[in-house]
Amino acid sequence: MQKPVALTDPHGRQIKYLRVSVTDRCDLRCHYCLPKGFSNFQEPEDWLNFDETTRIIAAFARLGATQVRLTGGEPLVRHNFSELVNKITSIPELTDLSLSTNATRLAKQAVDLKRAGIERINVSLDSLNADKFKQITQGKLQKVLDGLQAAKQAGIHPIKINMVVMKGINDSEVQDMVNYCIENEFTLRFIETMPMGDTGREATNQYLSLQLVRQQLANHFELIPTQMKGGGPARYYQIANSNVNIGFITPISQHFCETCNRVRLTVDGTLHLCLGQEHSYPLRDLLRSGISDMELEQHIIKAIALKPENHEFSENPTKLVRFMSQTGG
Ligand code: 5AD
Ligand code: SF4
Repeated sequence: MQKPVALTDPHGRQIKYLRVSVTDRCDLRCHYCLPKGFSNFQEPEDWLNFDETTRIIAAFARLGATQVRLTGGEPLVRHNFSELVNKITSIPELTDLSLSTNATRLAKQAVDLKRAGIERINVSLDSLNADKFKQITQGKLQKVLDGLQAAKQAGIHPIKINMVVMKGINDSEVQDMVNYCIENEFTLRFIETMPMGDTGREATNQYLSLQLVRQQLANHFELIPTQMKGGGPARYYQIANSNVNIGFITPISQHFCETCNRVRLTVDGTLHLCLGQEHSYPLRDLLRSGISDMELEQHIIKAIALKPENHEFSENPTKLVRFMSQTGG
């Protein structure tokens, strides 16, 4: 018998997907995400430990959530990360556990992660040119490329590349990125710059509508509209004569809030009900005050009742002070 889904928000959307940020720290400094010298991160005593994180995920799972994605910051900078993966895979109701990473540490960790239960990953990669990559992220491209090959060899599949397309920065590389993904059989998703925090807002000077990118690509590749399992908000096209899908994530030019099925947990144990709004519900101190599992479920249901109908990136772009690294995209 299928369990009734308890998590329906006030706008009739079923919440089946929890994104869990396991750290707000990152070893890169993508200019649209984190300011260069930034170090004002959460302190370790405020982090959920792995048991607390697993307990919240398990409560969501009992309430009908089936999908979990681990994010950061950069999740692989969290010490003993694969132990957390091991704990989460013991939750019986979950059918999908995935990871979003910048891949800098994947070369070392891919095999362990796959063994621990990570089936599929998303990797941020905005440029295939080492100088450009350095300019955008302050990091080394080769580490990321090595990480991607290690993940592929470890049998992690699918591997999805996320590319934030920015006018005058990397928009000339869109076609190269498609070719790279065809060669490696990676899925490619383009993302529009979002005004999150001062960094994100500044980067929207380089905003480029993906509607234009799609038209450009259609001059070079035959794009066949398609669907992808677990595809989330991206609109997908298959590239004719290849196994490769490309997706367009267009929070600005064409928002997709009406089908939103997710909420986000930050490392300090706060639930964020929308990527583009401040509505939140703190769970950590409740956990530490000794509440029961049933009480925890009641708090989660109350939190879901706060989920706003949509973001206001276009109507109210100065609203969000949070950086993307706090909620992990
Ligand atoms: N706008 C759009 N995407 C962003 N990301 C981080 N900050 C922003 C922003 N301001 C992306 C990263 C990564 C994902 C987690 O979010 O590049 O792919
Ligand atoms: Fe790190 Fe991702 Fe932010 Fe880049 S976008 S600085 S990889 S958290």
